[in-house]
Amino acid sequence: MCGIVGYVGDRDACPIIIKGLKRLEYRGYDSAGVAIVNDKGELNVFKCKGKVSGLEEFISEKDTRGCVGIAHTRWATHGEPSDRNAHPHYSASGNLALIHNGIIENFRVLKDALIQNGYTFKSSTDSEVLVNLIEYVKQSNDCSLEEAVRLALKQVVGAYAIAVVERGNNSRIVAARQSSPMVIGIGKGEYFLSSDAASIIDYTNDFAYLNDGEIAVIEKGKDLEIKTLDNEDGHLDIRRLELSISQLEKGGYPHFMLKEIHEQPNTIVDCIRGRINPETLEVYLSGVALNKEKFLNAGRIIFVACGTSWHASLIGEHIFENMCRIPVEVEYASEFRYRNPIIRKDDIVIAVSQSGETADTLAALEIAKKAGAFVYGICNAVGSSIARVTDSGTYIHVGPEIGVASTKAFTGQVTVMAMMALCIAQMKGTMTEEQRHAVVRDMLRLPEITKEVLSTDSVIADLAKIFTYAHNFIYLGRGYNYPTALEGALKLKEISYIHAEGYPAAEMKHGPIALIDTEMPTVVIATPDHTHDKTVSNMEEIKARGGKIIAVMAHGDEHASKSADYVIEVPVCSECLMPIVVSIPLQLLAYYIAVYKGRNVDQPRNLAKSVTVE
Ligand code: M6R
Repeated sequence: MCGIVGYVGDRDACPIIIKGLKRLEYRGYDSAGVAIVNDKGELNVFKCKGKVSGLEEFISEKDTRGCVGIAHTRWATHGEPSDRNAHPHYSASGNLALIHNGIIENFRVLKDALIQNGYTFKSSTDSEVLVNLIEYVKQSNDCSLEEAVRLALKQVVGAYAIAVVERGNNSRIVAARQSSPMVIGIGKGEYFLSSDAASIIDYTNDFAYLNDGEIAVIEKGKDLEIKTLDNEDGHLDIRRLELSISQLEKGGYPHFMLKEIHEQPNTIVDCIRGRINPETLEVYLSGVALNKEKFLNAGRIIFVACGTSWHASLIGEHIFENMCRIPVEVEYASEFRYRNPIIRKDDIVIAVSQSGETADTLAALEIAKKAGAFVYGICNAVGSSIARVTDSGTYIHVGPEIGVASTKAFTGQVTVMAMMALCIAQMKGTMTEEQRHAVVRDMLRLPEITKEVLSTDSVIADLAKIFTYAHNFIYLGRGYNYPTALEGALKLKEISYIHAEGYPAAEMKHGPIALIDTEMPTVVIATPDHTHDKTVSNMEEIKARGGKIIAVMAHGDEHASKSADYVIEVPVCSECLMPIVVSIPLQLLAYYIAVYKGRNVDQPRNLAKSVTVE
């Protein structure tokens, strides 16, 4: 949440940081701003409520020249979205400007102390407290900016990624991180700074990943200097990231979400590439193979995740229990971290996260690690915090996901879980070769199958027109597809703002069926499985009460179609892979309903892509 970007070098900073900011807008879009230090050492802040495009318009007539700049796109935590709460924040003297991603938990205590010392505040943010604290420490100790940042941060409790610039210094940014992402792009005699390497990939492929509790002095023409809060030398973790710029563009689609939905046949290919031998039908994942003993001796697997990644984990629970006969628990990371969970040494805790930066998932993982569990990551963002903290892991490799609503990451996560389970099943002998190979064969067909599903795009667009004005939706599924129903409902609510609930189909009669009337559409996932007949009976129960049913079912399933008002037909493959197939029409249904309602599909209200605060 919140995106920060910076530049130090010989070029004009503003166009670079504005471009970076646009790529970071998925992290929040309540307000945007820049601070520039020009050749004369003057420090100027320009900021306004709203999106980066609004900021661009606002600064179009201003003199934004200068070779040092920092910029921010905000997802509001403390203080409503407004011009005055927008970042960067000046310090009281106007000598410093700061951008901040995170939450300063003890900001009230710090603010009261600063007020006692004569400070006044223009905004309601915790971030303005921090910039004034740094200024106060700097003046009291008559020290350098980096020393003031270090001493000030020692008083801070909370999460932050910050960047600070100083009037009179047109070659330097001081940055620091604790529990919020921050990377430094290394160019030739120039540096870039960002919450996400992808936003500055046009300029460099070499990135230094700042670790928690580290402060970086980023100075034009000088080596990067990294210190810890205890003033010891920090760890310079430089990695090369290969990413194509086309992955960050809409590529002719009206929205990133639609592009990402349609990318799925290819992202599945990328996800399984080099991991399945099409000849022998064997699956190899280094993260599993190199930790064979851990997986063979696992007493339990605990998934920790949030949102869509939590739904994928629920599917993982079925997959691992069925294929590997290992007991599985699935936890909301935000609950797990605060409830004194029992973690055993033979537990494997798997964090599932697209961004690899979700604060709750990261915290849950750290608790598990401290308790001695083996911690594994299923992430998309390469080099992300979760990927670096885990003992081992498997990337889903679906490329940058920019639409706030997660789509291709979900199908990538389920694909990785199925591959992991196949590897473990082979090691444990919990599936016969024939059973494993049947799943692998279907996995290899997934790109074709998903292409076929996507060819029904216009059918689903027409269906969406019929239901655009519904106020509520119910999604039902069973077994592997109960989590798919939850995911379908989440997609609809987050981008269309229509209230939607997912239930296991058989739970209807225990309460939710009271909601059914002629106004209530129900999406029923009725693809073939061992409970298919029962699901069709549940459809009849809804129909008998006047409910309208949209069935997602196998091609030509007359049994299900008789009980449905509208049908979405999909091809069939192994049961454990059906959530991948079924989720795609549900993504499209949510997408088109949101478009017809005129919603901002890629940047739905109140949301941000990467949830780096609690
Ligand atoms: O990056 P993560 O996978 O950890 O993110 C978890 C959730 O915040 C995320 O899935 C969220 O629910 C999406 N907006 C769902 O579309």
